[in-house]
Amino acid sequence: MNRVGKLGQVAYYGFWFLKSRLGSRKPLVNTMIINYECNLRCKHCSIAAHAEELHGPKSMSYDLAVKEMKEHYETGARILFFEGGEPTLWRDGSKALKDLIDIGKEIGYFVVGYTTNGTREIIETSDVISVSLDGPKEIHEEIRGHGTFDSLMKNLERTNHQNVFANMVVTKMNVNFVKETIELVSENQRIRGIMINFLTPPPNSIALDIQEKRKVVDLVLTMKRQGYPILNTNRALKELLEEDYSQKCPYWVSAFVLPDGSKYSGCPLQNTNSCKQCGFNAVREYRLITVGNLQTIIQMSRRFALSTQ
Ligand SMILES: C[S@@+](CC[C@H](N)C(=O)[O-])C[C@H]1O[C@@H](n2cnc3c(N)ncnc32)[C@H](O)[C@@H]1O
Ligand code: SF4
Repeated sequence: MNRVGKLGQVAYYGFWFLKSRLGSRKPLVNTMIINYECNLRCKHCSIAAHAEELHGPKSMSYDLAVKEMKEHYETGARILFFEGGEPTLWRDGSKALKDLIDIGKEIGYFVVGYTTNGTREIIETSDVISVSLDGPKEIHEEIRGHGTFDSLMKNLERTNHQNVFANMVVTKMNVNFVKETIELVSENQRIRGIMINFLTPPPNSIALDIQEKRKVVDLVLTMKRQGYPILNTNRALKELLEEDYSQKCPYWVSAFVLPDGSKYSGCPLQNTNSCKQCGFNAVREYRLITVGNLQTIIQMSRRFALSTQ
């Protein structure tokens, strides 16, 4: 249980927002890429695409992870997200991801979450869990490998966690299955909603062109109006069509830490060509929060900013 109640958390975010309007640039989110190791080789994955070129340690040490968690908390971050590679594979001696989640809460983060390919057991103590879902079984497995859909569904059946959502990356490989994937999520009792993203290249060959993206955004907006559990806000969906988001990107909202301890403000793709073709929905939501967009503030706080346990 978090020591700061929901009202205290709302007040903290209110102050953070006001200070940011006055020019403060302190990250609210701490995104920690704790490893590059993964049990899959997904066809669209930027980490897998760069696997050979990644230098330095492939996994963050426990001591460094705790130090980074504490430092970013001290500078004001209250939302902590573990990313990879596959973060559920992370180990340092006897320590595993669950221990990092526990420490994050002990330090005082309001919300601690992680992203996963869902091939391993869900960690119940996490406040929020993002599971990757890239299509119905056949398509998901074409992208992510044989057996990945069934193991994801099996692990979801085993949990009663109330805040699991799906993250879909739309590429040429699954563009014709967006509707089916959203329907699948709405029928699955264990998944609370779906967030739609576009590929941030590389790999370039499966990236959608702008006309194809426009059709996807129109479809998702229509399904959202019909009541499907789509987590992107309307405005963010429209801003996904602004491919070069580099001038709008609110770099300072999230800090990023890599396994070797190097730090980025915003994301590690800043100043690369990838940054000019950004498909990450979260980045749009971050910006909309900083400009006081109410729909985004309300929708995102419910899922990602207030402690659930
Ligand atoms: C890098 S993965 C790490 C967590 C975990 N291994 C997983 O697959 O969910 C986090 C999310 O980024 C997405 N992703 C990977 N490569 C991407 C790319 N090039 N553009 C946009 N999203 C990407 C994945 O599909 C996944 O939903
Ligand atoms: S499971 Fe995640 S990190 Fe691993 S290859 Fe797939 S998208 Fe990349």
